[in-house]
Amino acid sequence: MTRKLMIKSFSTMRQVILREPGPRTALTPELVVFSPNQDLQDRQALVRVAACAVAYRDIIDRTGGFPFMNKPTVLGHEVAGVVERAAADSKLKAGDRVVSLHWGQYDGEAWPSPFLHKKAMKSFLGLTCNGGYAEYMTAHDSAFVKVPSPKQWTAIDAAPVMSTFGTVWQGAVVRGGLTKNERVLVTGAAGGVGSSAISIASRLGAYVIGATGSVTKKAAFMKSLGASEVIDSSSGFSKSIGGVDMVIECVGAPTFSESLRALKPGGRLILIGNVTNANAQLPLGLCIVKSLSVIGTDSIEANELPKLFDWLDNEKLRPTVDKVMSLEEAVEAHRLVEERSVTGRIVLDVNSAIW
Ligand SMILES: NC(=O)c1ccc[n+]([C@@H]2O[C@H](COP(=O)([O-])OP(=O)(O)OC[C@H]3O[C@@H](n4cnc5c(N)ncnc54)[C@H](OP(=O)(O)O)[C@@H]3O)[C@@H](O)[C@H]2O)c1
Repeated sequence: MTRKLMIKSFSTMRQVILREPGPRTALTPELVVFSPNQDLQDRQALVRVAACAVAYRDIIDRTGGFPFMNKPTVLGHEVAGVVERAAADSKLKAGDRVVSLHWGQYDGEAWPSPFLHKKAMKSFLGLTCNGGYAEYMTAHDSAFVKVPSPKQWTAIDAAPVMSTFGTVWQGAVVRGGLTKNERVLVTGAAGGVGSSAISIASRLGAYVIGATGSVTKKAAFMKSLGASEVIDSSSGFSKSIGGVDMVIECVGAPTFSESLRALKPGGRLILIGNVTNANAQLPLGLCIVKSLSVIGTDSIEANELPKLFDWLDNEKLRPTVDKVMSLEEAVEAHRLVEERSVTGRIVLDVNSAIW
């Protein structure tokens, strides 16, 4: 019997670590020893990170919004990268250009939820499995999807697609059945998800009303993406906007009540995010007499994501990238997101030249 001797070579990599949830300064850039030929198990893939977007969920993660977080952790779940190595039984191979999902979807689950699947729970990027604020990351291969036409994309543009356009696609188009000529209200409409919601809804022929707390600063941006109207989200708006068929709710508790009241009879509220820890009250009578639907949605299913990339190519649409920053600037990126001064997404250029 011959024995294979595996000699592990060691190298270093840059990463931003979070040892304990806390303020922005809890994010620490560091250089760590790393083995590029580490053992890979259970269909794992080792991905070299090209770019990682900074999302509002990163703020929730960093401040301890998810009690099951493994500590320490590397944040970042909006990743574009190149497969360096993959386990022998993996569907991925070295050189594949991939983007991440929020977690491993274990191939074709109809309602992928990490809360229902122990295995998926182990690959919740940035929480139970290290994410993309690093030069390399390892996860189950079902946490990645191959980009169908990688040459048409830069890593910087590809990184935010899953969570921004993807969540709107799954919620408003696949589940919500958004159609031409509908009136659609988008809250948090200048943010990463909200700006994608304006783009998707207006391209599909809807009349789009964008809501923001900073009309003066952000209206021109929202109109450039296709919003027909821009309204102030910080005061009661339900009576003044004249009834909508759909709300794409990207803010949650602060706007939920007004959003629900803005719906026409039969209207749908697509619930994408909640930027606070607060809960909203659901007025049951209103939902009943107006036959309203509240549709919660959890990012995009793996098999929808390649279709979305193709649709974006056909529409010549790309995410709005407000700023490209270095990995070491993650703390500053978090400050800008928390202070609501970003339009679209910030993307960390980890090593975009490898794409
Ligand atoms: N379901 C999913 O799978 C999924 C996927 C992606 C994101 N999300 C969630 O969706 C939400 C938005 O994410 P994002 O990445 O688009 O965030 P983002 O880029 O930071 O945008 C959020 C927008 O909400 C507005 N906002 C922030 N705090 C607010 C407050 N206290 N009151 C009213 N408006 C406020 C800001 O707009 P103005 O300053 O212009 O008002 C901001 O631009 C987050 O809760 C995120 O966790 C969920």
